[in-house]
Amino acid sequence: MSDPQTKPGPGRLSSILRAPSRREPLIVEGSGAKITVELGDDLFCKPDRGYGEYVARRTMREFHADLLHANDIAQTSLPGSMRKIMSSELIEQPEHYDDAELVIDGQQVMQAWEHPYMAKLAEIAAAGRGDILEIGFGMGISASAIQDLGARSHTIIECHPDVQRRFAAWRLQYHDRDIELIEGRWQDRLDELGQYDAILFDAYPLNEREWNEHYVNDVTYARHFFEMAAKHLRKGGVFTYYSNEVDSMGRAHQRALFEWFEEITVSVIRGLNPPDDCHYWQTNSFLVISARMSRTDN
Ligand SMILES: C[S@@+](CC[C@H](N)C(=O)[O-])C[C@H]1O[C@@H](n2cnc3c(N)ncnc32)[C@H](O)[C@@H]1O
Repeated sequence: MSDPQTKPGPGRLSSILRAPSRREPLIVEGSGAKITVELGDDLFCKPDRGYGEYVARRTMREFHADLLHANDIAQTSLPGSMRKIMSSELIEQPEHYDDAELVIDGQQVMQAWEHPYMAKLAEIAAAGRGDILEIGFGMGISASAIQDLGARSHTIIECHPDVQRRFAAWRLQYHDRDIELIEGRWQDRLDELGQYDAILFDAYPLNEREWNEHYVNDVTYARHFFEMAAKHLRKGGVFTYYSNEVDSMGRAHQRALFEWFEEITVSVIRGLNPPDDCHYWQTNSFLVISARMSRTDN
């Protein structure tokens, strides 16, 4: 049956007549920030229905609150440093590695101050001591934390040749464990792999296109992996990842997760200590996210 409010016809005409002929801009202001929204379409959010108007205003109030909160965070954030533009594909450049960081082509791919955050992600992934898939070995911090907790099996996908060599040295201390390295990009290798009880995703953009598309212009860097995570998790399986969120989850981020997962658990880890020149994180907290697949077929 056609919807008289949206399809052409007499029903739609009556709704136009009931809507204001020219809508005033919606405005929310206070504490130094003013948001004005001009609605290009008189029927946007169906103003003749109370719910639509309410939701539009609530969305604006939320945006206003987010903006003020972003301002608060900016007041206490670290100076940070400018990230160098990658000169080529990350895997074509040698790594520079020490106890404090892993740098490739001027990118701070991983730093040791993330240790407590990685330990939290490892706790989530290893909670069931099951079959764990990890994307990105990096400095091996989360991988070591997973091994400290224990896992039935631990599969790691890593694409950088120097990092793969360090993995081989790290692996020696766990000679009696079921740990496997899959060499290459997850995009090229994941189809060959099976199902897991938990997945920990902590990769890094491999070129400028990936940086802009997935890191800068998406709700969270891991979003392009959500579908693959869901495909490779068993019923009730758990997904955790570098959240790219300071202390709460954006609504679009939350909706993107709910497309694939049934249940989301979040907490905040505080007291982190990034160095002043960190180019990818300038605050002392991170949101810790755990997303669970449905336990049934529904
Ligand atoms: C942020 S580090 C991982 C840090 C790690 N969680 C730790 O605790 O040390 C990212 C790693 O992912 C690898 N990587 C980036 N993109 C990848 C991809 N598409 N497939 C596989 N590995 C990738 C990088 O080479 C790097 O070693």
